[in-house]
Parts: sequence; C-alpha cells; structure tokens
Amino acid sequence: MGKQNTQAENKPEHIVVVMDGNGRWAKKRFMPRTAGHKAGVKATKEVVKACVENQIKVLTLFAFSSENWKRPEQEVSSLMELFLTTLQSEVNELHEQSVRMRFIGECSAFSDKLQNRIKQTEELTQNNSGLCLNIAVNYGGRWDIANACQMIAEKIESGEITSKDVNAELVNRYVAVSDLPEPDLFIRTGGDKRISNFLIWQLAYTELYFTDLLWPDFNRGELNEALTWFANRQRRFGKTGDQIGQANKVNC
Ligand code: IPE
Ligand code: IPE
Ligand code: MG
Repeated sequence: MGKQNTQAENKPEHIVVVMDGNGRWAKKRFMPRTAGHKAGVKATKEVVKACVENQIKVLTLFAFSSENWKRPEQEVSSLMELFLTTLQSEVNELHEQSVRMRFIGECSAFSDKLQNRIKQTEELTQNNSGLCLNIAVNYGGRWDIANACQMIAEKIESGEITSKDVNAELVNRYVAVSDLPEPDLFIRTGGDKRISNFLIWQLAYTELYFTDLLWPDFNRGELNEALTWFANRQRRFGKTGDQIGQANKVNC
C-alpha cells in the first residue's frame, strides 16, 4: 500500500547488507549454487530500487568477500561472470536513476576486463546525486584496516605526520566509505549471526538485524520490516536512555 518512508523520522542514512543464503536457496530446489546466485541478483535489484524510492542515502552490499576465493574454482569463476554481466546489464538503468556506484575492496585481483568495467561504472556515475551504492568485492574488514595502517605508515615515513598524530579519527579517514555517513543499519540474511569480516571498523555503533530468510527471498516488504525494526531502536552511543530522552523515542 505505497509504504514509502516507513518511520521517516528514524530512517537509516546508510544501510549495509550481507546478502547470504544463495547457495542454500538453490540446494533446497535441487539446483546448482550458481542458480542461487542468479536469483540473488534479482533480490538485489529489488532492494536497490526500494532504497532509491525510499530515498536512502547510502547502500553498501557485500557481494564477494576476500575469503570467498576459497570456494570451488567453478563457483568463483561463475560469480565473476555474473558480476560482469550484471554490471553490463544494469549500469545504464542505475545511472538513469541517478545512482552513484563505487566499489570497495582489492579490485586489482580481478581480470582486466572486470577492472575496466568497474572503472567505467564509477566514472560514469560519479557525479550522480541519488543513492550512493557501494559494492564490496574482494573486500575484507581486516584488509581494510591494514590498508589504512599502511597509508598512515607511509605518511609517517614521509614525515607528513608523526606517530603521535595516530588516533581513531585519523584511522577512520583511511578506511572504506568513511567519507559517507556511518552505517546505521546492518542486515544479514541466511540465518547466521555473524559479521564475516565485513565492515568491522565501521560497524562499531551500527544496529544489527538478522533474518532467517535466504537472500533470494528477500524483497521490498522484508526491507520495510527491517526499517520498521530500526525505527524502534533507541541509539544511545554510550549515553543513558534518559539523556537521549524524547528526541530519539519511537512513536509507532
Ligand atoms: C552469498 O550466498 C553469496 C556470496 C557469498 C557470494 P552464499 O553463496 O554464501 O550462500 P550460502 O550461505 O552457501 O547458502
Ligand atoms: C559473507 O557470506 C560474504 C558475502 C555475502 C559476500 P559467506 O557465506 O561468505 O559467510 P560465511 O563463510 O558463512 O561466514
Ligand atoms: Mg554463505
């Protein structure tokens, strides 16, 4: 029933999603895991669309972790293929919807073809003012922090800063997506309650939402449910509930 802007006053600015359960979705249907990944793309498209319509500022999706290389070679290569074809088929529509796309992770591990496509997509959409859609590929939270440390170490080596300048605020400047609002809502499908090396630094104060649904079964209605759940959280950031007071209270 045109359920837009659920609890608008308590809407997350930045949603991050661990899209898990594609393999199990396929297995339940006696289908190959790749069929699950394809069905997962459909769910992804619906959720991106819903975020555009709900005027969510940032959506960060975990598409391939630095640990997913450990999967059977055939699954990895079909995921790469799917990634490439999906980028090719979707980018124009996303561009038309004014979506700005960025990729986080170690993209240098990918084929030249895929790296070029990633670059083109980022360049094409860089000035768009709508949803900022970050795709985490070959991403690992520990890599992200180590990468930040390396950049900081280089600054120290070159004399631009000293070790005394190193603090949480500085580290934060060098980790992925830190120029954007911090993640407000983390969603993981598939029933497991873990982070799996996603944005471990950035999730410090994120609200964590877990659902047993498998990713291909996730849709706009389920997203609305997560948004309603989020709207009912009282985020205290270390303060007491009284300090937060009425301002952050929910009116359902
Ligand atoms: C998530 O679904 C997609 C990727 C990790 C690429 P899975 O493939 O992990 O699905 P399950 O967890 O095996 O069901
Ligand atoms: C997390 O899912 C990574 C992605 C969704 C891309 P996994 O299926 O790889 O996580 P684990 O192995 O169950 O922790
Ligand atoms: Mg999984």
